[in-house]
Amino acid sequence: MPLIAIDGPAGSGKSTVARAVAGSLGLPYLDTGAMYRSVAWAALRAGVDLRDAAAVAAVAAALDIDVGDTVCVDGIDVTDAIRNQDVNTAVSIVSAHAEVRAELVKRQRDWAAGNGGSGVVEGRDIGSVVFPNATVKVFLIADETVRAARRGEEADIARRDRLDTRRAVSPLTKAEGAVEVDTTATAVDDVVARVLALVPE
Ligand code: DC
Repeated sequence: MPLIAIDGPAGSGKSTVARAVAGSLGLPYLDTGAMYRSVAWAALRAGVDLRDAAAVAAVAAALDIDVGDTVCVDGIDVTDAIRNQDVNTAVSIVSAHAEVRAELVKRQRDWAAGNGGSGVVEGRDIGSVVFPNATVKVFLIADETVRAARRGEEADIARRDRLDTRRAVSPLTKAEGAVEVDTTATAVDDVVARVLALVPE
């Protein structure tokens, strides 16, 4: 059974495409951005200094994170709360900490192992770091103006892109062996078909 890694910047279409690919193949789907957002939400709630890597990692390690159709953190439904502006700002700081990434990468690998090594996983470092041996690696891109319009966060997209691509640990990058697909002017169905065509029989 395949493991499909889908990476790319904010607004490139990862969630839409990953969900559709998973549905089409009958595979489970994991949104790793929701995991980083959950840690950011919990760190804000706990009032820890977001720049204190050890403190944020301690919050992450103690956290029960359930990412599915809804996102629950320690039994609280945070599906909407993790998309607010405070979390948008905090998540770039939190996800830059190596200790936090180590904790979440471990959970992502455990998730796949629990599904027999298969699934559709989306994020920033899935093909490069988390699953370098993924069956299929896709790197979605799109023009910045189109990505900002999709997200409705014109100012924030550029800031997140900069932080995601320039951080020292696991920066957003096209993994070796990844197939790049530009979603700027391509219909979702066509992008999904291109990804499905990469999956071996
Ligand atoms: O996909 P998203 O916009 O929900 O991701 C939120 C943030 O989490 C994003 O700014 C970068 C970070 N992230 C990451 O560092 N690594 C991942 N695998 C997924 C997300």
